[in-house]
Amino acid sequence: MPSPAERMRKLVDELNEHDYRYRILAAPTISDQAFDEMMKELESVEAEHPDLVIPDSPSLRVGSDLTKSFDTIVHQAPMLSLDNTYSPEEVEEFDKRIRRDLKDESIAYSVELKIDGVALSLIYKDGLLVRGVTRGDGIQGEDITPNVRTIRSIPIRLRGDLRNCEVRGEVYFEHDTFAAINAEREKNDEPLFANPRNSVAGTLKLQNPKLVASRNLSYFAYSLASPEIDLDSHFDRLQLLSDSGFVVNAERDRFKTSDEIIAFGDRIEKRRNDLPYDIDGVVVKLDSYRLQDELGATSKAPRWAIAYKFSAEQAETTLEQIGLQVGRTGTVTPVAHLTPVLVAGTTVSRATLHNFEELARKDIREGDRVIIEKGGDIIPKVVSVVEASRSKSTKPYELPTNCPVCGSTLVSDKSEVAIRCATVSCPAQMKGNIRHFAGRTAMDIEGLGSALVDQLVGAELVADVGDLYSLDVDQIASLERMGTRSAENVVTAIAQSKTQPLSRLLFALGIRHIGATVARSLASAVGSVDALKSATEEELLEIDEIGPIIVQSLKDHLANEQNWAVIGKLRAAGVKLEADVDATGSEVESPISGKTIVVTGTLERWGRSEIQDLIRGQGGKPTSSVSKKTDLVVAGEAAGSKRTKAESLGIKILDEAAFAELINDA
Ligand code: IVH
Repeated sequence: MPSPAERMRKLVDELNEHDYRYRILAAPTISDQAFDEMMKELESVEAEHPDLVIPDSPSLRVGSDLTKSFDTIVHQAPMLSLDNTYSPEEVEEFDKRIRRDLKDESIAYSVELKIDGVALSLIYKDGLLVRGVTRGDGIQGEDITPNVRTIRSIPIRLRGDLRNCEVRGEVYFEHDTFAAINAEREKNDEPLFANPRNSVAGTLKLQNPKLVASRNLSYFAYSLASPEIDLDSHFDRLQLLSDSGFVVNAERDRFKTSDEIIAFGDRIEKRRNDLPYDIDGVVVKLDSYRLQDELGATSKAPRWAIAYKFSAEQAETTLEQIGLQVGRTGTVTPVAHLTPVLVAGTTVSRATLHNFEELARKDIREGDRVIIEKGGDIIPKVVSVVEASRSKSTKPYELPTNCPVCGSTLVSDKSEVAIRCATVSCPAQMKGNIRHFAGRTAMDIEGLGSALVDQLVGAELVADVGDLYSLDVDQIASLERMGTRSAENVVTAIAQSKTQPLSRLLFALGIRHIGATVARSLASAVGSVDALKSATEEELLEIDEIGPIIVQSLKDHLANEQNWAVIGKLRAAGVKLEADVDATGSEVESPISGKTIVVTGTLERWGRSEIQDLIRGQGGKPTSSVSKKTDLVVAGEAAGSKRTKAESLGIKILDEAAFAELINDA
C-alpha cells in the first residue's frame, strides 16, 4: 500500500498531466468520467490528510472561501507599458530608428497579438507557482495568488526543465465566457458588466477565490525572464513558455522588415472579429534580448517595442430619436435610437449619449448623421456628428422638462450635472428600487426578476419594497404568465428574505452612496435601523469608511416620511431590522447564510420542517432537489438518490452531527 502522501503525489501528477493534455494540447487520453473519479479520490485523500495537501494539487484550482486583503509586492523589474502607433508610417519610423540606433546589426522582430486584457506577473520557484501579482502602478502590484491559482491556463507546476522564472502575460475573458457571465447576471437582476477588460480587472481583485474560479478567466503568456536560460531570442522564449505548459497565442511570427510587420497587422485586423477574445492591435518586439538591453527603456516604455494599434471600429448612421431613461435614483439620461447599422460584427440600434452636458457640447440633434464607435465597451457610443450632412430642418436639442415616465417636473442636480425626477412614486423609480431590493447581493429574493417587478408595479399591487411582504399567492397568480406554483415560490422567497442580515437590508434599501461595504460597516457599528435613525452625525462619522456625504445621504433618507413609512411596513412584516453581532462587534453572517441546502434521509434531532425553519432562520435556503446550484446536502439515515446525485456533482455532503457543528448547535 502506498502511503497517503505517495498516493496524493501520484494522483496530482496524473491529474495535472491529463489536465494539460485536455486543456493545452486539446488531446485528452482519458474520459471526463475517469478524470472526475481520480479527482474525487484525490479530494477524499486530501480531506483525510489536509496537512499533506501538495501545493500543485489541482483541487486548489477551485479556490477557497477564505478572504483577506492583498499584500503589496514590488516587481522584480518594472512592468512598463508600450508606446502606441496607429499608422504604417509610424511602424516604418520605429524600424528606422532601431536600425539607426543599433547601427548595422541584423534585426528581427517578434510580432504578437495585443490582447485587450489585464497584465499579470507570475513567479515560479523550483517549478512551482508561488506568486501571482497584478501590474499595479508598474513598480508594485498586489499579490493575488489564490485568485491566480484558479486560472486553468496557468500551470501550477511547470513542465520540462525550467525551475525559477518570472512569466508575464495577459488575463482575459473569452467572448463566450463573458456573455455567459452577463446572461447569468441578467437572470439574477445584477448590473451587467460593460466590457470584458474591466470585468477581468474586477474579477482578479475579488476577495473570494471561489467566485473567481467560477468566472473562468484565461491567460496568454507573452514574456519570460529566468536566470537559468541563455536564450537570446524572445520568439524562442515564447516557444519555451509553450513547452513549459503555458498557453502562448499561436498568432505570432518573426519578421525582418516593417512591410512584413504591417502586412501581418492588416491580416490580423481583418480577422479581428473572428477571434474569440478582444485584441486592440499587435505588439512588435525586437527579438534579441541583447539588443533590447542595448536600447533600454524610458521610465514608461521600452525603446525596443511598440504597439501597432487598430483604430476603434466606427460606423455612420442616422440618429432617429433621442430617448430618455430614468434610473433607480431618478436620474434621467439620454439614449440614442439609431437606424440599425453593423459595427464590429454586431447590429447596433442604440448607443449611449452619456449625459445632457455632453449632448449639448457636441450639439447632437435628432435627425443628424452620426459616427458611432464600438471600443472595448459592449454599449456603443455616439462620437460625433457629421456636420456636413446636417439638414436645415434639425433643431438644437432641448432639455426635457418632465419625467418621461410619470410626467412630473424634472429638477436639475447642480452638484452632479444630472437631471432627476424627484418623485419617489414615479413607476420608473419604484421598479428600479424593487429590482435592486430583490437582487442577489441585496435581499436575494429568487424569482422576483425584472419582468415580475414590472407586472407588480403595473398592476398597482406594490408601490414600494414594504408592499412585497403583504403580497399573497392569489394576487401574484392572477398576473399574466404566472401559475400558482411559481406564485407560491415567490411568496416563500419573499418570506425567507425577512431574516437577511441587517447589512443586506441596509444595502437593499438603495440609499444613495450606501453600497454593500458601507452597509456592512454601518450594520456592525450601529446594530439596528432605529439606532441609525437616532445616531448623531458625529457618532456616524467615527465609523470606518463613513464620511460626511454618506452620513448626509443616510440622514436624509431616514428623515424622509415616505421612506420611514416603508421601513414601518418592513417592521410590521417581521423583516429583521437589527444585527446579530458577535464578540468582535461585527455582524455575524451564519456559515449557511445565502446557501442553498437540501436535506435528505431521516434525521434524529430535527423533523423535516423543523430543520428547514432552522436553515431559513440562519439565512439559508432549503430546497428539495439537488442541482448544480445546491451548496450543501445534509444527509441523514437512508439517504438515497439525492445523496448519490450530490456525490456525482461534487457537492459538499454533511451528516447530521457535522451540520449541527457547522451551525454551532452541536
Ligand atoms: S509586452 C514592456 N505583449 O499591453 C512590454 N504586452 O500597453 C510590455 N499586452 O501592459 C508588455 N498583449 O498588458 C506585451 N503580446 C503582448 C501583449 C501585451 C497585451 C498588454 C500588456 C501591457 C500593455 C502595454
